[in-house]
Formats: sequence, structure tokens, C-alpha cells
Amino acid sequence: MTLLTWNHACSVGVRAMDDQHGILMDTINELRLALVRGCGREKASELLDQLIEFMRMHFWNEEQLMEQTGFAELGEHRAEHHKMLAEILQAAHRLQYGEGFELRPLLCELHDGFLQHIDRMDHHYGPWLNQRGVS
Ligand SMILES: [Fe+2]
Ligand SMILES: [Fe+2]
Repeated sequence: MTLLTWNHACSVGVRAMDDQHGILMDTINELRLALVRGCGREKASELLDQLIEFMRMHFWNEEQLMEQTGFAELGEHRAEHHKMLAEILQAAHRLQYGEGFELRPLLCELHDGFLQHIDRMDHHYGPWLNQRGVS
């Protein structure tokens, strides 16, 4: 299992967002480790809920920064945040109510999707925000 590790290439140039990305990576790692250790559905649900709560907060913070500075890609960026959240919420629901739902494939997707999102989208707002005094 590959754990998510924060490195300099992950930096978007905005300290608060870098910190939040680090926490999100830690939370995804924690959930993956719990699954490897054979945690039950209840524990997995609890960790997944924590992750969802933090993702919501992080996405909202990014969107606020982009909105306040009139960033042109906000609409597209927000749509991708919604899509990521919808997927994970659906998975959390299936985990809680479904029979024998397998969480590991979702986590692999989440792992890749999260890194790709930082790379493709979050990196775009960094220079824009830096030029407007947010660093
Ligand atoms: Fe984002
Ligand atoms: Fe982000």
C-alpha cells in the first residue's frame, strides 16, 4: 500500500491550503491503515465521516479564496469539488447501509483523484492568489 506523502511538489504556494492538503492526506492514510488492520464497518464509517467533514471544509475554504479574488476557473473548480464530494458521500452511504461494501477500491480512487486534483486544479489558483497578496 502506498501512503500519501506531502512533498514540495504538492505545494500550491498558499500556506493554509498546503496545511489542509497535508491533513487530508493524513486522514486518507489513517483510513487506509485502519482497513489494512481489519477495522470494522463502524470504525471505517467514522473515519470516512471525518474525511468528508474535512473535505467539505477544505473545499469551502478554497472556493472562498477563489471567489474573493474573482478567479475565473472557480465554476469549473467548484464543479469538480462537488463531484468528488458526491462520490465519497455515496460511498459513505453504501458503507453504512449496503451489504458487504468494499471500501478499498474507493480509497485507491480517492488517493489518485486527490493527487490529480491538486496537480491539475489547485496548482492553478496558487500564482493567482500570490499575486493578490495571499500566500
Ligand atoms: Fe480544489
Ligand atoms: Fe485542495
